[in-house]
Amino acid sequence: MVAAFWIALVCAWIAYMYFTKNNKAVDLPGPGGLPFVGCLFQLDKRFHLILYKYAEKYGKAVYFKIFNEHFVTINDAKMGKELFSMDQLSGRPVFDAFLLYEGEKLGVVNSEGQLWETHRRFTLRQLRDFGFGKNTMEMLIMDEVNDFAERIKNAKGAPVGEIKKLLSLAVVNSLWTIVSGKRYSQDDANLKAISNSLDRALSASADTGGIVFFMPWLRYIMPEYTGYAATRRAFEQLRAFVEDSVKEHQKTFKPDVIRDFIDVYLKEMHSVTDPKSTFYGKEGGTDTTSTTLAWAILYLATHPEVQKKLQAEISSITADSRDVSVADRSSMPYSQATIEEVFRMSSILPNGVQHQVLTDVTFQGTLLPKGTMVSMNAFYIHYDPALWDEPAKFKPERFLVDNGKAFKKSDHVVPFSIGKRHCLGESLARDTIFLFLTNIVKNFNVECDPSNPNPTLEPAIGFTLNPQEYSVIFKVRGKV
Ligand code: HEM
Repeated sequence: MVAAFWIALVCAWIAYMYFTKNNKAVDLPGPGGLPFVGCLFQLDKRFHLILYKYAEKYGKAVYFKIFNEHFVTINDAKMGKELFSMDQLSGRPVFDAFLLYEGEKLGVVNSEGQLWETHRRFTLRQLRDFGFGKNTMEMLIMDEVNDFAERIKNAKGAPVGEIKKLLSLAVVNSLWTIVSGKRYSQDDANLKAISNSLDRALSASADTGGIVFFMPWLRYIMPEYTGYAATRRAFEQLRAFVEDSVKEHQKTFKPDVIRDFIDVYLKEMHSVTDPKSTFYGKEGGTDTTSTTLAWAILYLATHPEVQKKLQAEISSITADSRDVSVADRSSMPYSQATIEEVFRMSSILPNGVQHQVLTDVTFQGTLLPKGTMVSMNAFYIHYDPALWDEPAKFKPERFLVDNGKAFKKSDHVVPFSIGKRHCLGESLARDTIFLFLTNIVKNFNVECDPSNPNPTLEPAIGFTLNPQEYSVIFKVRGKV
């Protein structure tokens, strides 16, 4: 009797959720799905492959529905750019699991409208003008590169596993130093806890195929199964770190001595009592950066010929007598091409980050109703056989022109998305990846672990594309 009551209540509530939401379909081709649930049963942990098939079958823009949410994926970079440059497309669906403060759309990643514009402009300016005391962003990143190099050198040529974890520690540390002015050793327990929380926060909900993103109300019925509860726990931990650090800063804050990002925000807010801020956006960028680097190391280990060409270019620039610096980048076409190819092949955010239509808008004759979720299918664009010769092969040369002497960027490589909400940390991420990769390859030969000489290049199962666990050998080349 009690069970029947609860079942009836849940059904009534689901029906309420379904019928009270905007249910306007979008007039674009796509897989119709089943009545009521739409494409729910096509959700899969390898959802990017399903979206790839939709793109092949239905073309540049595809519409599908899951329960009462309406989705459009864009499989063409030019169309994506036009759409994401429109104000009406700059909304963000809020996945409660990913909020630092549950129920509050704070921070650059999650906010919308005036709050988002203000945060975004302010954070961009701070990132561009970064420099506290004598430290430049490049110096902070190089501290972590050197620390990482020391750690892999200590392995003395033995296979090194859990590369992504090691890289995360280094990348989280450099960002945390920028944010809080506090640098940990890469062995520090606090740093490891932050890094693990970030990892858990991003992976827990994806473990069940990301079902909670498509039907957020499921979190009330199955918080553990959907991964929602685990994601929330991880965010609670992160929040505690941020708040502790903000509190420490508040005690010693002096408006005329700005030490780091937290001080910058405290000054801007004029209210040194409000600890809520936008640091989450910056910490969120750590996972993407370390995932990209983990892919880069795997591609280099499995493509020694690419590594040799990189090393030759690095030697010609540094004469093997100094570190590679960001200022060298424009004279290093092969390194730029290699990194661009890493972005294309790895496509770590295969479907970017969802946008939400803020008000009804007509694009190229098609009405996109308010509330429609729109995303750009970076994975399809990066592997579209009409654009790329042998898309599944790792070939940095595809980005070289002028007999290999110049790097040519492609409009069809879009790891950071495009338009008004494109990644705010792009240049920081590019600098970090460039400095790590070139300086590691300068000092080490990266080789496959002889016990697994052909590691797979297939991504691990998940919503973001991570390499599967692998180990490599770092052989010291010269003086580190
Ligand atoms: C390889 C590394 C990275 C990749 C591939 C990446 C990719 C992305 C993508 C695809 C978006 C969504 C853009 C959209 O909605 O159209 C995004 C947004 C964002 N990223 Fe990154 N990101 C990376 C690193 C970083 C870093 C290091 C930071 C920190 C400074 C960062 C901060 C942000 C922020 C704050 C947003 C939200 C922008 C907004 O909503 O206005 N990202 N990123």
